[in-house]
Amino acid sequence: MNYLIGIDVGTSATKTVLFDELGNVVTSASQEYPLYQPRNGWAEQKAEDWAHAVLDTVRKVVQESGVAAADVKGIGISGQMHGLVMLDGDGKVLRPSIIWCDQRTGAEVEDMLRIMPRERWIEITANPPLTGWTAAKILWVRKNEPEVYGKCRHILLPKDYIRYVLTGEFATEVSDASGMQLLDVPNRCWSEEVLEKLSIDRALLGQVYESCQVTGTLLPSVAETLGLSVETKVVGGAGDNAAAAVGTGIVRDGTAFTTIGTSGVVFAHSSKVLIDPKGRVHTCCCAVPGSWHLMGVTQGAGLSLKWFKDEFCQEYVAAAEAQGCDVYDLINQDIEKIPVGSDKLIYLPYLMGERTPHLDPDCRGVFFGLSAIHTKKHLIRAVMEGVSYSLCDCNEILQELGLEVRQMMACGGGGKSPIWRQMLADLYQCTVKTVKQQEGPALGVAILAGVGCGLYPGVEEACGRMIQEKDSTEPNQEHAKVYRCYHALYQKLYASLKENYKELAAL
Ligand code: XUL
Repeated sequence: MNYLIGIDVGTSATKTVLFDELGNVVTSASQEYPLYQPRNGWAEQKAEDWAHAVLDTVRKVVQESGVAAADVKGIGISGQMHGLVMLDGDGKVLRPSIIWCDQRTGAEVEDMLRIMPRERWIEITANPPLTGWTAAKILWVRKNEPEVYGKCRHILLPKDYIRYVLTGEFATEVSDASGMQLLDVPNRCWSEEVLEKLSIDRALLGQVYESCQVTGTLLPSVAETLGLSVETKVVGGAGDNAAAAVGTGIVRDGTAFTTIGTSGVVFAHSSKVLIDPKGRVHTCCCAVPGSWHLMGVTQGAGLSLKWFKDEFCQEYVAAAEAQGCDVYDLINQDIEKIPVGSDKLIYLPYLMGERTPHLDPDCRGVFFGLSAIHTKKHLIRAVMEGVSYSLCDCNEILQELGLEVRQMMACGGGGKSPIWRQMLADLYQCTVKTVKQQEGPALGVAILAGVGCGLYPGVEEACGRMIQEKDSTEPNQEHAKVYRCYHALYQKLYASLKENYKELAAL
């Protein structure tokens, strides 16, 4: 039997899974690391923490599996998108990575719009300049830390730094590179025009591969540490969303998924380059060669619930520990009894600003409609509903652009919650399904590794063989009627608060 490893360098943890070639999990391991928020709106992580987590978890899954080194044919790496890793000429990390949800680059986005019109940005990079994307972060470092920029010789994305650690290669692949805002997305290559306008030297960037192409093999010292062979191939891999798509079988037109992880994403496959002229949703190259995807992003999805749980739900955490169960299962049981609409309580999930549809780094979280009748359970349900309203905003834009979604999968930590899936089905007005395999991005990149190593003829065929559907949730029309009214009011709240958010930011 052949084996494959999928690595997902997430925001809260790295998850590594060793699969057999049929997609069964043999062993898995995860390791958490901190998120640093040195200032309001800033978000950083240490690239070295990701590397330790990857090396530790790979070593662990290999050891525990007992699989022979020569049988592990390939490794795929997935990870949080948009993060900026800067290395010097010796491959040393120069500063903490500024990650996807960091919102410090408002001024740089304005600079980018002065350098080139918004329409041209959208034509080339398929997206308007965005605060969370890598290009604006590069400009921020160049302006604010010129000594760091002066020493920088390599610019990498989080998972591509891991590739460098494993193989010594400086490379990336189309899906993640699409989120740097330096790629010509329709043509799947670096944009000379953008690099020239931003005065960024092409030599700083790695070679761009398709997601299932082999980009190198393990360095001898790394292979030895991990208990693997130097012949183990490392493929391009994919940004976490493109990887999750492969891992849930979203590789054909008409299919889509919603993931509720730290961020929330509504993602639809497209065999054509389809770009939102208003720039509200992203278009990126997807992991299937010759295809793209559109996605809307809620910045604070699972992040909102985790924040609420960490700050205000110590009794749930203690009870889960005592009962040996998942804290989110307890939370779900409790909020089931709270009525749809949380008794007139609406939550705006803008804890890290918002992307779709507002593209506003200054907006903030809100509980609207608080009353003395409300309990903690109401607040928790309102958080989940608010995130669902935001995801519904994303889905509506995809429909408006003509993407006909016949199949919606739910995944990510939040996708495991039947209540959250019901909210999505009610708001989207479509069946929401899950797949048996829970490993999303890790499975997705393991499949890409299998394609790269020649174990499967192509991504679609591999998904067809390996991915099985599990639960299916139908919309509840009674709930849907109530949600529609709440969603309409939710949408008005941002419009009412827009100017106040700016005032608050300026204080
Ligand atoms: C997508 C995005 C997030 C990150 C973190 O544009 O910013 O989904 O990839 O998971």
